[in-house]
Amino acid sequence: MNLKIAVLPGDGVGPEVTREAVRMLRAVSEVNGYEFEFREYLIGGAAIDAAEQPLPQRTLDGCRESDAVLLGAVGGPQYDALPAERRPEAGILGLRKALGVFANLRPAIAYEAVADCSPIRAEVLRGANVLIVRELLGGLYFGQPRGRDEHGAYDTMRYSPQEIERVARIAFEQARHRRHHVTSVDKANVLETSRLWRQVLTDLAREYPDVRLDHAYVDSFAMQLISTPSRFDVVVTENLFGDVLSDESAVLSGSLGMLGSASIGGKVGLFEPIHGSAPDIAGKNIANPIGAIASAAMLLRFAAGLHRDADDVEAAIARTLEKGCVTADLRSEKRKTVATTREVGDEIERALTDLLSQHLAYHAV
Ligand code: IPM
Ligand code: MN
Repeated sequence: MNLKIAVLPGDGVGPEVTREAVRMLRAVSEVNGYEFEFREYLIGGAAIDAAEQPLPQRTLDGCRESDAVLLGAVGGPQYDALPAERRPEAGILGLRKALGVFANLRPAIAYEAVADCSPIRAEVLRGANVLIVRELLGGLYFGQPRGRDEHGAYDTMRYSPQEIERVARIAFEQARHRRHHVTSVDKANVLETSRLWRQVLTDLAREYPDVRLDHAYVDSFAMQLISTPSRFDVVVTENLFGDVLSDESAVLSGSLGMLGSASIGGKVGLFEPIHGSAPDIAGKNIANPIGAIASAAMLLRFAAGLHRDADDVEAAIARTLEKGCVTADLRSEKRKTVATTREVGDEIERALTDLLSQHLAYHAV
């Protein structure tokens, strides 16, 4: 197994958490004897500082030549005054577009071990495991025209049936590996794009008779996601709704730092934690590396088809949480002492190496 991985640490806590994610990938390749090659590139504020643009051509070429891209985070207050196309965020949006990754998978799992960190009651959380499939290349993020004029400012929400169908297919396929249930979230009581969205989903559902399809309005769904989270399996929705709902879903996991993501659908996949650059805690060795490590697990699964290794990384995360080894964002009554970014990484790597070696030994006999 050969894998070329472009690593884009980016800004804020990005470099610290990406380092831990890369360690897990190295452990996987060393124990199994795979050849993983890592190449680092600049993105976001780091690229603006060095090359005066958020997505340099070198980075783009490097990503396109790789089998997968592992990204940290972008952004920082020092770039807030820049025009939209030169902000760090333009780096991520440009990369998503260039790679053609139209489906963004964001799983949120309520781990029993850290259930006390969520403001949601433990009995409501129990068993919650939601996969948000966010459309990533359309809607208000990319719709034209957009701009400002003498009357004010405007953005355009626009979807073609094809753009809706391709992301919906991914949601249905994912549901087949899970609990065979898709909830499509829209605002079809008001928006034209949502009425088309609902129609395309309803038509496509005929091809997936083994999957149950429900529809929900985004306002009511936002409430249900935290009042009855265990009722949902796969949730599919347009770009902006998915951006908002996926941050909300982090409440199920106890911290925004827990969630990883996979952006797929193009030739090269993009894997990144959903948290941002968190400039206030950057460089302090206290950021939660689990979102980045969970993204590395998804990289193994989606970019390389290494399902068992991906499962091992996820199991190593779960074991570490069960041991009570967590960063400060998961501090609670029950756990007054917390670990650093590096210490949580150490613990996950230990658990991972154990699991990988067990599998190797098992396969050797
Ligand atoms: C995310 C982020 C990005 C988005 C920003 C950084 C452009 O919030 O990945 O959820 O809005 O998509
Ligand atoms: Mn977001």
